[in-house]
Order: sequence, then C-alpha cells, then structure tokens
Amino acid sequence: MRNILVTGGAGFIGSHLVRLLVNKYPDYHIINMDVLTYAGNLENLKDIENKENYTFIKCDICDVEKVNQVFKKYQIDSVIHLAAESHVDRSIKDPFSFARTNVMGTLSLLQAAKETWNGNFTNKLFYHVSTDEVYGSLEEEGFFTEETAYDPHSPYSASKASSDHFVRAFADTYGLPVVISNCSNNYGSYQFPEKLIPLFINNIVNNKPLPVYGTGENVRDWLFVDDHARAIDVIFHNGKLGETYNIGGFNEWKNIDLIKVMIKTVDRLLGREEGTSDKLITYVTDRAGHDLRYAIDSSKLKNELGWEPSLQFEEGIEKTVAWYLENQEWLDNVTSGDYQAYYQKMYTK
Ligand code: NAD
Ligand code: TYD
Repeated sequence: MRNILVTGGAGFIGSHLVRLLVNKYPDYHIINMDVLTYAGNLENLKDIENKENYTFIKCDICDVEKVNQVFKKYQIDSVIHLAAESHVDRSIKDPFSFARTNVMGTLSLLQAAKETWNGNFTNKLFYHVSTDEVYGSLEEEGFFTEETAYDPHSPYSASKASSDHFVRAFADTYGLPVVISNCSNNYGSYQFPEKLIPLFINNIVNNKPLPVYGTGENVRDWLFVDDHARAIDVIFHNGKLGETYNIGGFNEWKNIDLIKVMIKTVDRLLGREEGTSDKLITYVTDRAGHDLRYAIDSSKLKNELGWEPSLQFEEGIEKTVAWYLENQEWLDNVTSGDYQAYYQKMYTK
C-alpha cells in the first residue's frame, strides 16, 4: 500500500496521471489535492471519481497548515507534484500569482514532506514535475539535456526554475528523497483552451481568427499527454533518487506548420472543403520574450529506464482533434464564465 499525494490532479496532465495511477494500481491510494482554479476541473475525472482507491481534496498548496494536516491524516509517503500556474501568457500579465503557487506552493509541500517524514526517508519520495522551459531557448541546432544550464525567460519558466532549485536544495540540505522531470509541450484531451492546440481547434470550429504570434517560426517539441503520464509512472517507480530526467517526443514543429495540420484535420473531420479555414490565420504582435525553440534530448530516460513515446504525432493530433470535436460540451463548459473576459483581455487590443 502506498499513499500518493498528486497535486494538480484536476488539471490537464494531472487528470491523465491520476486516471492512469488509479486504474493501474488498485493497491495504491491516490489522494488528489487541487484548489480548482480556472484550469482545474473535476469533470476531467468523472470516470474514476467513485473508485475506492481515489480521494479528492480541495486545498490550496500554499495553505501550509492544511497541507500539513493532509500529510498526517493520509500518511502520505510519496508526492507527485504537478499543481502550478502553467500558462506563459498569463504569467506575463500576472507574475505574482506564478511566484505564489509555483514557488511558495512547492516550498509548502516540501516543508510538509520534510516535517512529516521527519528524517525517516525509507520508501518516501518527492517527485517534482517540471518543464523544459527552465532551460531557456535554443537556436536552430542542439537539444536540452539534463546538464543544460538554467536560463528561464518568462515569469512562468522563472517560477518553475525556482521551484526546481528549491526541490534540489531540500535534497542537498535535508536529505529529502527527490526526483525531477522536465518535459516538453504536451497535447491531448482535457487541455484548457488557452494553450495553442485546444485554443486553435476551438477557434477553427467556430470560424474565429487564429492569432499566430510573431512570424509563426517558433518551434516546440510536442508530446502526447498519455506518454507524459506513462513517463511519470516509470520515473516514479524506477527513477534514481536525486536524478533529473528530461521527457520529450523528438517531435519538433514550427508553430505555423502545426497550425496548418490542425486546420486540415479539423476541416476534414467536419466535412468542410480543404482550405476552408486557411483564411483564419492572423499574424499578431509577438509574445514578449518569446522563446524561439524548445527541443528535448530524452535519451537518458530511454537508455536508463526504457521509456519512449508510443504515438506518432499524426495519430496523436488526429485523436486529439477528434476528442475536442466529440466533447463540445466540455469545451462549452470551460469556455463559459471567465473565459470570455480572459479572451478579450489577451486578444483584443
Ligand atoms: P494545468 O494548468 O492544466 O493544471 C494545473 C492544475 O493545478 C489545475 O488543476 C489547478 O486547479 C491546480 N492548481 C493551480 N494552483 C493551485 C494551488 N495553488 N493549489 C492547488 N492546486 C492548484 O497544468 P498542466 O498543463 O496540467 O501542467 C501540470 C504540471 O506540468 C505543471 O507543473 C506544469 O509546469 C508542468 N508541465 C506542463 C507542460 C504542458 O505542456 N502543459 C509541459 C511540461 C511540464
Ligand atoms: P503555448 O501552448 O502557450 O505553450 P508554451 O508557450 O508554453 O510553449 O504556446 C505554444 C506556441 O504557440 C508558442 O510558441 C506560442 C504560440 N502561440 C501562438 O502563436 N498563439 C497563441 O494564441 C498561443 C496561445 C500560442
């Protein structure tokens, strides 16, 4: 029996991970701690919410007292920490909330783990889920490895870099058993439509402009979300304490090329004539501090732990577009309320 605290389990990646763990390990008790911000949605976990080995707790990771109580009450022996503010554009408008959740929230969890485990670290693990954006930006050549120096440029990546440093500091200073993974851009079902792929699918469906930042030449390395969840499972069970693992898809796309694939796929699945939505492409002012290229070298994970991405991108994007088309109600629910105000603020001058 293990009592695993997953933070941010109602979000995009967290919900895929919670589903995987709850279904695959009936002997583990999965405790999902999430405060349910705009990005957290219990609808994402409807299919497993009544499972015996699953508990949801609405809690802000910055609430030190409550976090401590949860550790004690559920005898938490492992943490997989995903809760975060995760959108770069929001971090540009409101950096403080990123420092609060991503830095102070991580610190609050680390402190609770340290105090509850109180030096008895046998069979304990604090797994911190991070991003490749901490490494900064690449030119046209090369890859991020686990040795690449940190060089974050956005308030989001600066806050994640800071949280990574705190995790390592707790390992070095107090001996806390930790592991960190840094993953590239994820795509798949249940992603909030502020990120490129679900935002653009939703806009294509609704014949709305597609706001391409700058020239559309920026490159991202896309990984199917279930492959990320599988990687976390592998690292959680077999990763070496104190190590960092990069996770990526070896799947680089220029934004504009990816956008063209999305347009083609949505138009085809909706039975529209090819090229119908090309006219929606609209070049807009570039994102401030926009990183040119991310590309992950995940060969350490492959060589040491045997993980590889399972899906080809063509298959993944087809599945993803189909999911958003079939789950219009989910999209409608998450885009009601504050979403309209968000959209106005971000995309209307
Ligand atoms: P998300 O924004 O979809 O979900 C974040 C979740 O955290 C939400 O459920 C939200 O309610 C919860 N949360 C936010 N603040 C909280 C707080 N103070 N207390 C408790 N819960 C809180 O994010 P995501 O895309 O699923 O990312 C999850 C993690 O993976 C993050 O740490 C992110 O940095 C990292 N990551 C994401 C990507 C990606 O492409 N999305 C890539 C690499 C790493
Ligand atoms: P995003 O999904 O926000 O992920 P990240 O910034 O963390 O990589 O953006 C992916 C890429 O798409 C990034 O280069 C910015 C670009 N982008 C646009 O061109 N327009 C948009 O409206 C959004 C949200 C992103």
